[in-house]
Amino acid sequence: MHQNNKLQKLPPGREKVETIEILRQLSISSNALGELKGIAKTIPNQEMLINAVVLQEAKDSSEIENIITTQDELYEALTTNTKQLRHVKEVINYRSAIFSGFELIKKQGFLKIKDIEAIQKTIIENNAGIRSIPGTVLKNDKTGEVIYTPPQDKYEILDLLSNFLEHFNVKQNDLHPLINLAILHYQFESIHPFYDGNGRTGRILNILYLIINELLDIPILYLSSYINDNKADYYSLLNKVNQTNEWSDYIIYMLKAVEVTSKQTIKKISSIKILLNETIYITQEKEPKIYRKELIELLFEQPYSKIEFVVDRLNVERKAASRYLKKLEEIGILKSKKIGRENVYINTKLIDILKKQ
Ligand SMILES: Nc1ncnc2c1ncn2[C@@H]1O[C@H](COP(=O)(O)OP(=O)(O)OP(=O)(O)O)[C@@H](O)[C@H]1O
Ligand SMILES: [Mg+2]
Repeated sequence: MHQNNKLQKLPPGREKVETIEILRQLSISSNALGELKGIAKTIPNQEMLINAVVLQEAKDSSEIENIITTQDELYEALTTNTKQLRHVKEVINYRSAIFSGFELIKKQGFLKIKDIEAIQKTIIENNAGIRSIPGTVLKNDKTGEVIYTPPQDKYEILDLLSNFLEHFNVKQNDLHPLINLAILHYQFESIHPFYDGNGRTGRILNILYLIINELLDIPILYLSSYINDNKADYYSLLNKVNQTNEWSDYIIYMLKAVEVTSKQTIKKISSIKILLNETIYITQEKEPKIYRKELIELLFEQPYSKIEFVVDRLNVERKAASRYLKKLEEIGILKSKKIGRENVYINTKLIDILKKQ
């Protein structure tokens, strides 16, 4: 028989979450994240960066839930009017949930229970809301064995969520926000307020928390790829906290995830910057007449571009827009592809960078 301990309210005892090992990893992780925040600012067009990274995260995070799609499928769905398949749609929903969460944080600077419900609803697309019928348990995928039973009573869930939000919105202690991030993530997943989508909602809360605490200005750090690569540890460490009240290994895992993903994202941003400059240079050299800063930036904001986008962005006729895109294809910047009845122009070198971890 499985048994777990009743979920405790926040905060945990300080001595449990501020060990020497934690502090050692903390300084490495917070440096890496600081560097990421800095380099992100040097990208001239922030929209461009957010679009690219958020779509990748939507894909990775959904993959934890076994929703597998490709970059190409996603961009095709976003750019053209082809019918969206279920698995593609879920990833696109996840992307919308990140964007609306980010807008909310920018506007009001904190979250309410109903905001978390809205995020989950955008991802899952149903109205079930917070669990009110008992029976939800977490099982081992392979053996079917019950590993963890979250609180079952709706009022207990709501009470735990208010306690969670008190800590999420306002720092209640002087712990470093990255330590709090790990604690909050454990707590949210253990409350497990919804029937489904708790993992994905929790991963969006993570990025919003980083922004609230000004560790980042824009939503570009995601732990999903790390969790995907180290999934068994992730589950067993969450479980360890509940079973033993030993937080250290779990917190170090989360801090390590911040370090590794920050470094990956820094690399990615550097490659994007190099490609952007190269693209500007080649266009100015080979097609100086069509060169416009906004045109090149558009190709980075929308790696799958089409005539309408150029018309809107540059305020030019369709004919001119079409000529620009064709010229850019001739000089090797874009590759065209027919999808349904539409022609799209793909910034393939950017897509290659985005595909790399
Ligand atoms: N032992 C555990 N204790 C607390 N939380 C757990 C435990 N095992 C798994 N979880 C959390 O439950 C999440 C899965 O819950 P749920 O299926 O509702 O979310 P999801 O978004 O649909 O799935 P996924 O996270 O797999 O994409 C995991 O991501 C993890 O964070
Ligand atoms: Mg699920």
